[in-house]
Amino acid sequence: AAPTLLALAIGYLLGSIPFGLVLTRLGRTRDIRTIGSGNIGATNVLRTGRKDLAALTLLGDALKGTAAVLIARHLFGADGGLAAGLAAFLGHVFPVWLGFRGGKGVATFLGVALALAWPAALAFAAAWLLVAFVTRYSSLSALVAAIATPLAALAMGETRAALLLMLLAAILWAKHHENIARLLAGTEGKIGAKG
Ligand code: G3P
Repeated sequence: AAPTLLALAIGYLLGSIPFGLVLTRLGRTRDIRTIGSGNIGATNVLRTGRKDLAALTLLGDALKGTAAVLIARHLFGADGGLAAGLAAFLGHVFPVWLGFRGGKGVATFLGVALALAWPAALAFAAAWLLVAFVTRYSSLSALVAAIATPLAALAMGETRAALLLMLLAAILWAKHHENIARLLAGTEGKIGAKG
């Protein structure tokens, strides 16, 4: 139990670093939570007009998930990696430092998938890029990609990773309820449109 608790703690601590918030503060943009969707993720950082900060947010929020899984797997084995991946995602979406109001989990989902079953992360990237290219909606791209990822892991025979990614995808979908309502109403913002 102790290794699992440590893996959860490492994952949560890394996952709860809000790169979008930290980087936009360092970059002295308008408060990210008053722009566009109000979210702290890369898509919303892009609405400040700062592509560099958006790219770094995507990188930071993804790689903290990758790092959490790799570190915990190295220390505690495969189960530790899965526990840390779960905790990193939960840390990003529900960070104690921000009153549990975190991001929507897209980048961290990708980063965790990369460490658990990298071809599944490729499936995520392919699905995201395809939907984004066709529709220009970041949220819709993420919603589709989040389903493609566990399916790809399942097809690879990575059953436990697939089950974890399904759970994370369900939380990711729930966190996108406002985006889903806007998509259905035809009022969702497109990628890069200023907030
Ligand atoms: O990264 C979350 C993305 O899917 C939607 O972001 O800011 O448009 O709600 P946003």
